[in-house]
Amino acid sequence: MLFNLRVVVNVSWCCLALAAVMSTGCAETPAADVAASPASVTQDVAPSAVTEIARAKQAELAAIHQPTSRPDRIILTWAGDPARSQAVTWRTDPSVRTALAEIAVAGDNGQFVKRARQLKARTSSLTTDLATAHYHSVEFAALVPDTKYAYRVGDGSTWSEWFHFTTASTEPEPFSFIYFGDAQTEIKSLWSRVIREAATTAPRARFLIHAGDLVNNSTRDAEWGEWFQAGGWLNAMIPSMPTPGNHEYQSKPATGQTSSLTDFWRPQFTLPENSLEGLAETAYFIDFQGTRIISLNSNEKQAEQATWLDVILKDNPCRWTIITFHHPIYSATRLRDNAKLRAQWQPVFDHYRVDLVLQGHDHTYARSGLVDGQVAVAGGKNEAVGVTGRSETGGTVYVVSVSGPKMYDLEKPFRPQFQRVAEDVQLFQVISIDGGELRYEARTATGALYDGFTLRKRAGLPNEMIEQIPVTPQRLRPPRPPAIPAPPLPT
Ligand SMILES: [Fe+2]
Repeated sequence: MLFNLRVVVNVSWCCLALAAVMSTGCAETPAADVAASPASVTQDVAPSAVTEIARAKQAELAAIHQPTSRPDRIILTWAGDPARSQAVTWRTDPSVRTALAEIAVAGDNGQFVKRARQLKARTSSLTTDLATAHYHSVEFAALVPDTKYAYRVGDGSTWSEWFHFTTASTEPEPFSFIYFGDAQTEIKSLWSRVIREAATTAPRARFLIHAGDLVNNSTRDAEWGEWFQAGGWLNAMIPSMPTPGNHEYQSKPATGQTSSLTDFWRPQFTLPENSLEGLAETAYFIDFQGTRIISLNSNEKQAEQATWLDVILKDNPCRWTIITFHHPIYSATRLRDNAKLRAQWQPVFDHYRVDLVLQGHDHTYARSGLVDGQVAVAGGKNEAVGVTGRSETGGTVYVVSVSGPKMYDLEKPFRPQFQRVAEDVQLFQVISIDGGELRYEARTATGALYDGFTLRKRAGLPNEMIEQIPVTPQRLRPPRPPAIPAPPLPT
C-alpha cells in the first residue's frame, strides 16, 4: 500500500509534504526557492495519505542512515597542535559502549600493525529524528611532526580499515588546502561530485575548510548522512575544519531558545576549545605550518569575538592569517548585507592585516581585491577607495563562494571591491602557501579554472596582489526579460 502511494505521487509534492511534517523552518530561504505544488495532485490525496507517505519516507531514511555496530561517519579534525596531535570522530549504534582507536607509524607492509597502540574513546549519545547513535572520539597525542600515521577505529572486534594521515611540520613548509562554500542541498546527488573533483585536483591537500551551511536542516540525520557519504573516506584521510552557518543553528522551543547550535555539531566534530565560553568548537584557531587558520562563528557573540580576535592576532607567530566564517561582511547578494558584522570585525582584520577571508551564505561567487575598510571610512564611505576596490595601502582579500547547487542572484551593480564574480556555478578553491607566496585558484565543479590570484609578502610593506583571472567570460545569469506592461483597462 505504501509502496503504491509513493509510486503514484509526484516526487516534488512528496518532498513538500515531508517538509510540512518535518521542517523546523528556514529563515534565509527566499520564497522563490520553494517549488510550486502541483495542485492537481494535492487535491487528489487525502491528509491521512500525506501522513502515511511521510512515515514511509522517514522509515526509508532511517533504514538508509541508521547506525550499526560498524564505525561510520569517520572524520579527522584537530583539537590541538596539528604537528603533534590528531583527532578522529566516528559513529556507531548504541550497542558499542567501549570504543577504541589504534595508531602506528604507517609502514609499507602490514607489519606496522604490530606496533599499534590502543586508545579508549570518549563516547556520547545522540538521539536524532531517525535513531539513537553513539559518537566516539579519540585525540591521538604526542605524535611526531611531519610523519605519516595509520589508524583504525572500532570496538575491539569490529574495526574500520586502516587510514593514513600525516602530521604537520613544525616548520613553515609549503602546503595546499581546499575551501568549500555552502554545500547545503542535494548533498549526495550534486555536492558529492564537487568534493571529489576537489580531492582529485589537489590530492595532497592537507585540510578541508567548510564555510558553513554544510546541510540545509541540521536537525535531520539523513542530511548529515548525505554529507558524510559525499566525503566518504576522504574525511578519514584529510582533516576538516568546519565553521557553522545559520543552517547549523536550530530552534529549540522546549528550552525557550530561539536558535542554537545543532545537537549534531559537537558530537560529530572534535574541534579546538580555545576561544570563548559558549563558542567551543565553533570559534577556534589552528596554526598549520606558519599559517594561522581562524574559524569565527558569525551566528552569535559577534562583538565578543572581535575582542577575542584582537587577542589572538596580537600574539600571532604565523606569517599568514586566514579567517573563515559564514555570513560575508561584503555580501554579494541583494538584501543580505551584513553591515553590523562588518563594523564589528573589519577594523580588527585591517589592523592586523589579515590576508584572506573565506565566507559562504550568499550562493554566488564574489572575490575582492585588497580591501581596507579604514581607508574607505576615511574616504567618507564604508567601501574601499577607487573604482577597482583596490587599496593602495594593502588590505584583505574577501571571498564568498558556493559549492552546492543552490543558487541566488548577485546584487547588481556589483560592489566595486569585487574583481571576479559568478552566478549559477558550483565551485571549490585550492589555496597553496609556499614561503612568502599564497596562490589562490577557484575551480568549477568540472575542474575548470575560473579565478586566480597570487599574494606576495613584502618586508615592511602590504601584500602585493597579482591578478591571474583566466581569459574566460564571467558566468552570469542571462538578464530577465522586461516585465510586459499590463494592457490598459477598458474605458
Ligand atoms: Fe547561510
